[in-house]
Amino acid sequence: MRTTLLTLLLTTVGCQSTQATSSTSTTSTPPPVKVNEVAAALAAGITLDADDPATCQPCHAQVVAEFQESLHSRAHHANDALYASMRTMRLAKQGPQIAGACANCHSPRDTKDFDSKAARAGVTCATCHQLEGVRSGDGLKGAAALIVGPEKTFRGPHDLVNGTAPLHATGAALPALVDGTSLCLACHGEETNAAGVATCTTGPEYVASKDGRSCTSCHMAEVEGASGAVTTRTKHRSHRFAGPHQQHRLGGPGLLDDAVKLSGRFEGDAVIAVLENTSPHGFPTGFPARVAMLDLRALDATGKELGRNITSDPMKDHPEAVFNRGYVDAEGKPSLAPFAAKQVRDNRLTPAEKREVRWKVPAQTAKVEARLRFFLLAPFAAKQLEYTGPETKAVLLAPVVVSR
Ligand code: HEC
Ligand code: HEC
Ligand code: HEC
Ligand code: HEC
Ligand code: HEC
Repeated sequence: MRTTLLTLLLTTVGCQSTQATSSTSTTSTPPPVKVNEVAAALAAGITLDADDPATCQPCHAQVVAEFQESLHSRAHHANDALYASMRTMRLAKQGPQIAGACANCHSPRDTKDFDSKAARAGVTCATCHQLEGVRSGDGLKGAAALIVGPEKTFRGPHDLVNGTAPLHATGAALPALVDGTSLCLACHGEETNAAGVATCTTGPEYVASKDGRSCTSCHMAEVEGASGAVTTRTKHRSHRFAGPHQQHRLGGPGLLDDAVKLSGRFEGDAVIAVLENTSPHGFPTGFPARVAMLDLRALDATGKELGRNITSDPMKDHPEAVFNRGYVDAEGKPSLAPFAAKQVRDNRLTPAEKREVRWKVPAQTAKVEARLRFFLLAPFAAKQLEYTGPETKAVLLAPVVVSR
């Protein structure tokens, strides 16, 4: 059956590939290929470039469209102003030699020439698919942890005998990609600054949670529809890589809305807000300048505002309602994480944590409006970076009204 399909494919498109005929697999399942669509794509003429997703589009259009909406496609400093701003500051303060470290995860396809076409592509198709595997356990990160495979050999979640696709080689399913976690942790694991202070801890948070769910189960949800014109499969996993930036940029509802369940109750003269982190990592996780704030607004029976837990200075007004990490420099002054001597605060929700936050309400309070404000860039960090981009604006989440 496979031989027939392959022969048909090769004769239809006039491909002289020798790879196809070297197939020795004995399985009887036909490859999931729509032969006519492959022929049509080839007829249009394509020069495959492993670092140019547009050249995958004729055959994998849906995945390419999703990927282009993802933050992975913008991971290079030319396409992410916030990253560029931090990178510029760190290069100025720490020296140009650290640029290679950033490139390891933000432009892993070229860690030498920071502005090449491959570097600008960010965390691109070939980063995850032109692989043999992922090294683990030796502290290597990003590109240094990825074992790159032969040029234009793309491996995915399925066992595909070589010759299944024209223009690029295929192969056995890639275990680090199939488990939905190992590949991700190559870059989303753990980071420390020059003084050894933890800055990003998504990996250790996830490991400590002992939650079996894979990263891809939430961040690459299964969606209806083929991944592109050439496959007969009717579902695939979304390459939007759903996350807070995507929701911030394109609007909700999205993954962030489900991050924390918020409810509440009255206890005497106080309201108790109950927050439950639904994810197997911290909230917020990742880049240490994220912050979420719990806003509480007390109203009387007529709906008149009586007071708020946070007015001008969240850390003075109600520090328990601020979910963030705090760092200081060697003089004990508040500092951005990369330049910190010490972490002095970690009030983020731990994986699956259910936390109660108490606020003494003004007299005559009949109900309290509660919601979360999520910032991709905390006001303190924005000030330090002199950054005013859209990441400084809050996303409002999980509004609830608690009545007496
Ligand atoms: C950050 C890593 C990553 C990047 C970047 C990435 N992929 Fe994937 N891709 C995956 C993972 C993980 C899966 C498997 C999901 C699953 O378990 O089914 C996958 C699955 C696929 C599949 C199989 C679809 C199906 O029908 O099941 C194709 C085809 C594919 N990717 C192509 C691409 C192309 C083309 C690009 C660039 C536009 C790309 N990928 C970028 C990680 C990545
Ligand atoms: C002319 C058509 C064509 C082009 C162009 C093309 N592919 Fe493919 N590719 C296929 C076919 C056919 C398959 C096998 C069917 C399938 O599994 O979806 C395949 C399979 C794959 C797989 C394995 C998916 C799995 O299910 O395990 C990956 C990964 C992949 N391609 C990546 C890419 C990337 C990255 C590019 C662009 C740099 C690209 N392809 C360009 C036709 C193409
Ligand atoms: C080669 C390194 C690398 C790999 C491998 C990688 N990522 Fe990423 N990922 C990044 C970088 C870098 C960013 C942030 C880019 C930026 O801010 O400009 C990012 C951003 C994200 C985001 C944030 C999206 C948003 O909208 O806020 C999510 C979610 C994500 N990745 C999930 C995954 C998953 C799931 C996997 C595994 C299938 C994975 N990543 C594999 C480097 C990587
Ligand atoms: C049960 C669903 C779920 C699973 C499983 C999950 N996440 Fe998340 N993730 C979320 C939610 C919800 C958010 C948004 C809240 C936040 O930012 O903490 C998020 C946010 C993120 C972000 C964005 C951080 C930022 O601010 O840019 C990254 C990166 C991320 N997750 C990586 C991972 C990795 C890596 C894994 C696997 C080790 C993983 N996630 C497993 C639900 C999940
Ligand atoms: C080990 C991999 C890794 C290295 C090395 C790395 N980053 Fe990142 N970086 C990430 C990931 C993954 C994200 C996004 C997800 C998150 O919040 O964790 C990110 C996000 C960021 C963000 C937030 C961007 C946004 O759009 O919200 C900035 C700023 C940043 N990195 C700067 C840097 C700089 C500057 C360097 C080099 C000195 C660097 N990073 C090195 C993995 C890395």
